[in-house]
Amino acid sequence: MTTSIAIDGPAGAGKSTIAKMLAEKMNFTYLDSGAMYRAVTLCALNKDIDLNNIEKLSELVKNLEIDVEYKNNEFKIYADNNEITNKIRSDKVDKNVSTIAQIKIIRDELVEKQREIARQKNIVMDGRDIGTRVLPNAEYKFYITATVHERAVRRYQDIINRGENNKDFQEVKDEIERRDKIDSNRKYSPLKKAEDAIEIDTTNLNKKEVLTKILHIIKKGE
Ligand code: DC
Repeated sequence: MTTSIAIDGPAGAGKSTIAKMLAEKMNFTYLDSGAMYRAVTLCALNKDIDLNNIEKLSELVKNLEIDVEYKNNEFKIYADNNEITNKIRSDKVDKNVSTIAQIKIIRDELVEKQREIARQKNIVMDGRDIGTRVLPNAEYKFYITATVHERAVRRYQDIINRGENNKDFQEVKDEIERRDKIDSNRKYSPLKKAEDAIEIDTTNLNKKEVLTKILHIIKKGE
């Protein structure tokens, strides 16, 4: 039996940072499930597939080999053996990934892959539907939030840190609000707190404080 920890929440709430820190502390593997939706989006865009063409997208996702790796606290993702870890963070992928993530057949395929990975190793998995759908029996479920303003501040800071300054703050904030809306209102597995998930508002907490809170909850449950 393996142990799973599900971390869900909206874009920019700090899920992946916290999930990676937690995986390191617990000596678990880590899976960024959003990276898989991004991988499909990138490949569809590269192949010029019309994002309304469900048949073509379905063929793409069924034939695409997505591999993930978590080594030395670094997460990497590959599509058909090509590493695409950085490419999936492009503006174009950001803009289109919520559309791809609404499609049932894509979700079904990726959810199956995510469950398979969780069967093999103790895992911290982050996403939108991990606690509600992918791993409903996860031992621990957390729902990480922060105000839209705070999430936009963090995303904007990431962009600056990467040395890119092609967007202003308002654009970043609008993009987060747009994705929140699509992710929360979609028909299949919308972003939602699982009933048994513990919600942590990180607006006024730093990463270390969030991690301490989570570790405390896990220790109490042991
Ligand atoms: O976490 P992220 O921003 O990299 O996620 C990219 C998109 O993928 C996001 O808009 C919603 C979608 N997603 C999803 O629908 N289900 C998941 N488990 C993870 C991500």
